[in-house]
Amino acid sequence: MPPPRIGLARLPTPFERADRLSEAWEVSIWVKRDDLTGFGLSGNKVRKLEYHLAAAREAGASTVITCGAVQSNHCRATAVASARLGLRCVLYLRSPDGRPPSEVVGNHLLQRLAGAECRFVDPEGYARRDEVMREAAASLGSAWVIPEGASDEIGMWGLVTAAEELAGQLGALRPAAIWHAASSGGTTAGLAWGFARLGLDVPVVGCSVGEPVAELDRRIRRILAAAEDEPPAATAWELTDAYVGDGYGLASDEQLAAVGEATRLTGLVFDPTYTGKALAGLRGEIERGRFRPGDDVVFWHTGGGFAAFAWDWDPALR
Ligand SMILES: Cc1ncc(COP(=O)(O)O)c(C=O)c1O
Repeated sequence: MPPPRIGLARLPTPFERADRLSEAWEVSIWVKRDDLTGFGLSGNKVRKLEYHLAAAREAGASTVITCGAVQSNHCRATAVASARLGLRCVLYLRSPDGRPPSEVVGNHLLQRLAGAECRFVDPEGYARRDEVMREAAASLGSAWVIPEGASDEIGMWGLVTAAEELAGQLGALRPAAIWHAASSGGTTAGLAWGFARLGLDVPVVGCSVGEPVAELDRRIRRILAAAEDEPPAATAWELTDAYVGDGYGLASDEQLAAVGEATRLTGLVFDPTYTGKALAGLRGEIERGRFRPGDDVVFWHTGGGFAAFAWDWDPALR
């Protein structure tokens, strides 16, 4: 049974074929436009927040606490949703030295504009994030803690229902993959469970943007194991970390060039941390021959456009 939900996202998001990109990359590429779940609330995270903020409301919380990188889309979406619902929002943001960034741009700008209280932690402190947030909740009182990326057995439901939404849009199409950027695991877990619940055999493939496959897989299994309902036996997903490159939040010149090319062929905005890296990965898999002419591949556009304004795009513009 899905937990309670509040409506925040503009749903269903469109599902459309990227004609010029398909022609250039010689595979039929379809895009699930979760970049259009809203403006400030754009991306996959708002789907998860619909469930977490309903839970916060049920618990009578007046404050929401969560965490992520300074340019976290999840933290931005939480800040904006909290502003809409009149909740105080406290963000624990990971920065290299535990200090505020010198430039207030991209997602961080929106976190601040939406009135979130930003507390900066260095990577060492961030490793203790769950404990830090629990302590903060205890001291603030009536606070609801949302884990990193809202990726747990509650937030996952946002993607379980998203799988149902896409299933209705697929018609007779049977894609060779549902390709998406993966990080905290909730998107992959929810989509895999969602399609399995429907008995639909569509390969859900998470393209890691930072974590090794083993860690990402551990995260996904932990989310599914915590769910109250038993996941269907056929729940399946596939992961690759072949396109992580130099690490989370870093992209090679080649990856930036692939993102620039995709933008010129679609008119869509991709950020190099998440969707751009995953798209460059999809291109890599096409080049390797995993996907062939005649295949249909769904690229789940998980949003993240604001982070594009926090990048040095020089290699893509040359
Ligand atoms: C734009 C974007 N795409 C994909 C992801 C990955 O989703 P998940 O953390 O559920 O694996 C995130 C979140 O980290 C994101 O912000």
